[in-house]
Amino acid sequence: MKIGRLAGAFALAMTLGGARTAMAAEKGDIGKNEYQSNCILCHGADLKGGGAYLEFLKATPPDLTQLSKKNGGVFPFERVYGVIDGRQEVKPHGTRDMPIWGKDYQVKAAEYYFDINYDANAYVRGRIFALIDYLNRMQAK
Ligand code: HEC
Repeated sequence: MKIGRLAGAFALAMTLGGARTAMAAEKGDIGKNEYQSNCILCHGADLKGGGAYLEFLKATPPDLTQLSKKNGGVFPFERVYGVIDGRQEVKPHGTRDMPIWGKDYQVKAAEYYFDINYDANAYVRGRIFALIDYLNRMQAK
């Protein structure tokens, strides 16, 4: 079930990303670029949590290469999506150091498509799927 959903979500990501994903090899890695512009300061270039912002954070960013390993070998797609999107998942205790990217991407979508009709949720999903695809590829074996 979990694997089925993950495959389904990736299939959807491929449909949404379509040609963008196919061109990724030539035009650069969308998920990796996304990670490097939004996540690297806290999670580090190697995804292991040693980013430049570390000293300013209350919580230590977890090692993002261990997500599957810590979840019995299965990439925890829904949880990771929820954490990145942030609009669904609210931490019951403490403050939230991890930014709410769902909102950030929605603002970016509005800037990007300012004069045409667009689906803000599809835009947000596309960005998050690209990131998740990158994280999934970077999992420790
Ligand atoms: C301002 C620092 C900061 C930035 C930028 C940041 N994170 Fe985080 N992230 C954290 C912290 C700290 C945690 C630990 C949980 C918490 O305290 O909220 C975390 C947790 C996570 C988790 C949860 C891991 C788990 O085991 O549940 C994921 C996944 C994640 N981050 C991915 C990302 C991605 C992808 C980006 C870029 C879009 C990003 N983070 C940007 C600080 C950050």
